[in-house]
Amino acid sequence: MKDTKNFPILKNDNLLRAARGEAVDRVPVWVMRQAGRYLPEFQEVRKQHDFFTICRTPELACEVTMQPLRRFDLDASIIFSDILVIPQALGMTVEMHPGVGPVFPEPLQSPADLAKLTPEGAVGRLTYVGDAITMMRHMLDGRVPLIGFTGAPWTLMGYMIEGGGSKTMAKSKAWLSDYPDDAKKLLSMLTESIVDYLEMQVKAGAQLLQIFESSAEHLPKEDFLKWSVPYIKEIRDKLTQRLQQQSIPIVPMTIFAKGAGHSLKEQAALGYDVIGLDWTVDPIEARKEVGPNITLQGNLDPQDMYKTPEEIRALTTEMVQKFGKERYIANLGHGITPQTPIVSMETLVDAVHKAL
Ligand code: CP3
Repeated sequence: MKDTKNFPILKNDNLLRAARGEAVDRVPVWVMRQAGRYLPEFQEVRKQHDFFTICRTPELACEVTMQPLRRFDLDASIIFSDILVIPQALGMTVEMHPGVGPVFPEPLQSPADLAKLTPEGAVGRLTYVGDAITMMRHMLDGRVPLIGFTGAPWTLMGYMIEGGGSKTMAKSKAWLSDYPDDAKKLLSMLTESIVDYLEMQVKAGAQLLQIFESSAEHLPKEDFLKWSVPYIKEIRDKLTQRLQQQSIPIVPMTIFAKGAGHSLKEQAALGYDVIGLDWTVDPIEARKEVGPNITLQGNLDPQDMYKTPEEIRALTTEMVQKFGKERYIANLGHGITPQTPIVSMETLVDAVHKAL
């Protein structure tokens, strides 16, 4: 079953071309959380299966990965999973409670709890993600590229300490100031697991990798540069080295650090091919900051998806025109939200393709 050599030939490679800075036939578009609750067919699958059961069952993960592609003319797929599978592989229990989000019944309460984590062999507990990626490459039949992903160390550390989503990240920030050495230990442990995990995803068939630093928004610039950026750089450097040693070509990589529009220059220096932007960043300003050699991704406000199709079309066209056709991947500035009308997605995708 695990045939990772004879993948179908890619027919639409606009996403990969844009990421590498090559000419595209049309501006590629995909949407963060494109497989999800705004789709009635996803809700149907969710009624029958627990969230993490879907992630762990390649047939189910592939089915929901495919769902948005059946409806929309998207230029990429992203494997269905979650960033919190790494804390699970490190031995933590994570539950997904409908209407609440992720819940850790036993979060990390003090540095002593680090001893409970099980980094040895963690990637071996994530082979189901690799299996889903390989299966998906065959199922896609070369229609569009398949994106693999991970959470970044600071974002994962936050969930592990807060025990779920948090408006303030107060406990995690207290670790940074009260236990800086233990915080570094945890961030380094996560970095190692992430490198193993991404290496496995590339071997399984992922064609682009996105790192989600969704909780960057909680850090002031100085802390972002201290507690997030070095680990994101280490991930890129170590993965490149690891793959080079095995003569495996590196795939393009995207850093999406939500709320870190204050540090675009610094992000551009990390060796990533693509920088994801949230909706607070102006496209023209962002291009000035990062220069011509980085691809930008984003960044329509997900709340704009509640406007009329005419308004969505106008906003999307304006956005694409500001970014331009070179080194650009259209997306929202964060994940699509559960109540988004289907027609908004249809309008967004069509407007991107017709804008230039
Ligand atoms: O983009 C895709 O279609 C692939 C799937 C994907 C999911 N989560 C599925 C999901 C991806 C890329 C993620 C990443 C993820 N997970 C992030 C980073 C992106 C971001 O939004 O900032 C984060 C922070 C998580 C952790 C997480 N998972 C949260 C905070 C929540 C609850 C909030 C919410 O939107 O419900 C989840 C749940 C989750 N992950 C759902 C889906 C489809 C909904 C859960 C359900 O069906 O009950």
